[in-house]
Amino acid sequence: MSQRNQMSLTSLSARRPFHLGDGVEVANADVLEMYGRWPAATVIVSDGAYGVSGFEGDPPTASGLAEWYAPHVAEWSRLATPETTLWFWNTELGWATVHPILAMHGWEYRCANIWDKGLAHVAGNCNTVTLRKLPVVTEVCVQYTRQVRFQVGPRSLSMKEWLRYEWERSGLPLYKTNEACGVKNAATRKYFTQDHLWYFPPPEAFEQFAAYANEKGRPAGRPYFSLSGTDPIPAAQWARMRAKFSCPVGVSNVWREPAVRGEERLKTGSRAFHLNQKPLSLMRRIIEISSDPGDVVWEPFGGLCTASLAALLDGRRAFAAEINPEFFAAAIERLGDA
Ligand SMILES: C[S@@+](CC[C@H](N)C(=O)[O-])C[C@H]1O[C@@H](n2cnc3c(N)ncnc32)[C@H](O)[C@@H]1O
Repeated sequence: MSQRNQMSLTSLSARRPFHLGDGVEVANADVLEMYGRWPAATVIVSDGAYGVSGFEGDPPTASGLAEWYAPHVAEWSRLATPETTLWFWNTELGWATVHPILAMHGWEYRCANIWDKGLAHVAGNCNTVTLRKLPVVTEVCVQYTRQVRFQVGPRSLSMKEWLRYEWERSGLPLYKTNEACGVKNAATRKYFTQDHLWYFPPPEAFEQFAAYANEKGRPAGRPYFSLSGTDPIPAAQWARMRAKFSCPVGVSNVWREPAVRGEERLKTGSRAFHLNQKPLSLMRRIIEISSDPGDVVWEPFGGLCTASLAALLDGRRAFAAEINPEFFAAAIERLGDA
């Protein structure tokens, strides 16, 4: 065992928040006190209560999770932007319990990623004679993005509905959207369709059909595709109206990765320092997928701050909170080492 991953409590300190250059800020605090002080997040990595009494305050069963997460979800929703992606780690049942609250607050489900720790995770611990279910070796990391809504009088429209609404308002026939973008039929087929095969129009296409509608549409209804009431949304602003996502080649939603062990696992003596330490590789994956260098990553339930470490290594800025002083001290030591 290296000296490096051995944690001692001698480094306990009341420094709060701890700053590592401009890159990382970690507070030894209840994160509910911190959200309002942090810059808006491009990525929120939530790895909080699981409903298994895993740490002080974690409810004993999943039935307590909705209440536990409600104030956090309210804050994430209040402070998120259309660019924000939320990665929600939990058990399958924990996620199912919290999903309705996320949906109610305008978080749109994108994908449930399954962390498969492999059979080695339970090897030697399974008495198949007494078990009444298959051994569980998975957790989920569920991707959510913000639902962008457009208020039109009393109606709240999705982006797909609003684009069509604005074009129809211009009085131009729908097929003219293709002419506006210089395509054969891709605009009607992709950006103005009402079915599930709808695509977010790329900024250049948006700019083209917005300009076309404003030039050739009914003069009385101008401006079209505008939020300001004077000009159409600029292409650069339109580009920021959805979450960032860059799909890595060869990666599916099943992540085969053993639970953290060896050099990566922080220990005190021979025992794991924190029961929930997540693999750094998976945290790096989700951060790289959903943000760019310089973007802000929130880790509300820090533990050993694996997501903040990933953010640091990937050139993002991290803001984390950990309520437990021992975990906080271990996390800042770990970040300091990195
Ligand atoms: C599941 S662990 C996170 C593990 C972390 N992802 C890692 O890789 O080390 C959740 C952590 O959240 C902390 N926590 C719980 N409630 C909190 C709160 N309101 N504010 C800040 N931290 C909290 C717990 O003390 C615990 O260490």
